[in-house]
Amino acid sequence: MHLTKEEEKILDGEQGEVPARMLRLLSRLGDIYGADGMIPVGSVQVAGVSYKSIGDPGTEFLEDMAKKGAKVQVLTYLNPAGMDLENWKEYGFPSDFAENQLRIMNAFKEMGIVITATCTPYLAGNLPRFREHIAWSESSAVSFSNSVIGARTNREGGPSALAAAIIGRTPNYGLHLDENRVPTVLVDVSAEMDYMADFGALGYHVGKQVKNKIPYFKGLGSPNTDQLKALGAAMAASGAVALYHAEGITPEAHMQDTSGLDTISVGTEELKATYDTLNTGDMPDIVILGCPHASLREISTLANEVKGKSLKKPVWICTSRVMKEASDRMGFTEIIEDAGGHVVADTCMVVSPIEQMGYSTTAVNTGKGANYLPGFCKQSVVFNNVHELIRRVTE
Ligand code: F3S
Repeated sequence: MHLTKEEEKILDGEQGEVPARMLRLLSRLGDIYGADGMIPVGSVQVAGVSYKSIGDPGTEFLEDMAKKGAKVQVLTYLNPAGMDLENWKEYGFPSDFAENQLRIMNAFKEMGIVITATCTPYLAGNLPRFREHIAWSESSAVSFSNSVIGARTNREGGPSALAAAIIGRTPNYGLHLDENRVPTVLVDVSAEMDYMADFGALGYHVGKQVKNKIPYFKGLGSPNTDQLKALGAAMAASGAVALYHAEGITPEAHMQDTSGLDTISVGTEELKATYDTLNTGDMPDIVILGCPHASLREISTLANEVKGKSLKKPVWICTSRVMKEASDRMGFTEIIEDAGGHVVADTCMVVSPIEQMGYSTTAVNTGKGANYLPGFCKQSVVFNNVHELIRRVTE
């Protein structure tokens, strides 16, 4: 891969040990994937934030980087942490876990990374523009930014994203290039799509079938951005879909030629079968919504559902700190708390240690959550739409 004179100097250690190490990592990646050179990135989003995911080795690595003076060059956000960073005691997070999680957050902060821990950075102050090159890690955020916004990112690993943040560049390959953004399979949807859970189920079903192809959807109707984030998140989880197009909806769809592509049809029957597959539990110990992190609209929907009711099981809706503050101001948090629920910020059902907190059956409305909870958190899953889940825990 071609490096500029300036990049060669960084590699030779002119800016210190950490930038040299980070550029070496990026240039190796570029060589492996056949990049022609580096491109500047507008922003970065780093995954591998929860102590549950990275443990002691990851924590020590980050502390070492911070101690050696590593500093990010571009706007950099974090993926969800393993707990609500302010109210962890109140929600029952273990204190030894909290101590380690706070060490991780401090190391990131010292590097100049914004301590906004969310998988929806685009709802919390880190919004890329159409065709902007970025280096993001979290698979649902990668899908949303590539597909719905039309920005350009590969699915970065935690270390390669951190390296891109410190260097301000990423190797030019994969989804940064026009030729790798064309659809490779057509998905014809005739199922009725009402709830976010329907979009999660559709995404789960399609991801399983298409693996890492680029789907082009027809028949999606007129989904809102919450439904599109649910669709992309589930496809990225059950498959490895990092980009999709949707006819008349996503910004690059009208540029694509779909003639001759294999077609997958998804009707009511396929959607119902997916609901059956994802439901492995019966009565939930806890209901957790907000995967990907909830928008204000989703929080207000939950507030309407629970207003004046009394919840018999814990109900969390996970979101970013920014959305939580808006929810507080709008009175949604109070309505949810009066019913017995919580608006939980900075974390989610998958990266928090819910299995250590006494829960074994979790109810969700997300295809991505339903995909990961059994393996990652040892949970049985109840999968349904918000209305039905709240009915189950209020009757
Ligand atoms: Fe986000 Fe956690 Fe879901 S990181 S996409 S809420 S599994």
